[in-house]
Amino acid sequence: RAATDYQAEDAAITQGTVATNHTGYTGTGFVDYTNVKGSYVEFTVSAASAGPAALTLRYANGTATDRPMDISVGGTVVSPALSFPATTDWNTWADKAVNVTLKAGSNKIRATATTANGGPNLDRIRIDAPTDTQAPTR
Ligand code: GCU
Repeated sequence: RAATDYQAEDAAITQGTVATNHTGYTGTGFVDYTNVKGSYVEFTVSAASAGPAALTLRYANGTATDRPMDISVGGTVVSPALSFPATTDWNTWADKAVNVTLKAGSNKIRATATTANGGPNLDRIRIDAPTDTQAPTR
């Protein structure tokens, strides 16, 4: 398997800013979503071949209120209002996993806030895709 990380601060950000005012992030910062519905971060993910992949979003939510987001791949919502619940404080990060299907080549993966609170703080996504070229023989 091949796992690849894509930092949120390097993605296309609409209604959000790159921030560093909390600890524990990877890369050079994280995305602080603007507190509005519809704010989003869009990643361009490259897949060697078409097929299933595990998408893991690393986030922090220092409030007591869920910050759900629609997860879309290539413009189609594949996980509506995915829950991003509280993580104790803004310095505490958690992983949220969802299974997606990628096409060979470039895929646009977008995480869009569905409430007026905006999204959680988003550190990165990780894509873990099978690289098997042959079926298992067991
Ligand atoms: C605080 C926090 C930010 C966070 C924001 C929010 O301002 O410092 O990192 O993004 O709350 O509620 O979204």
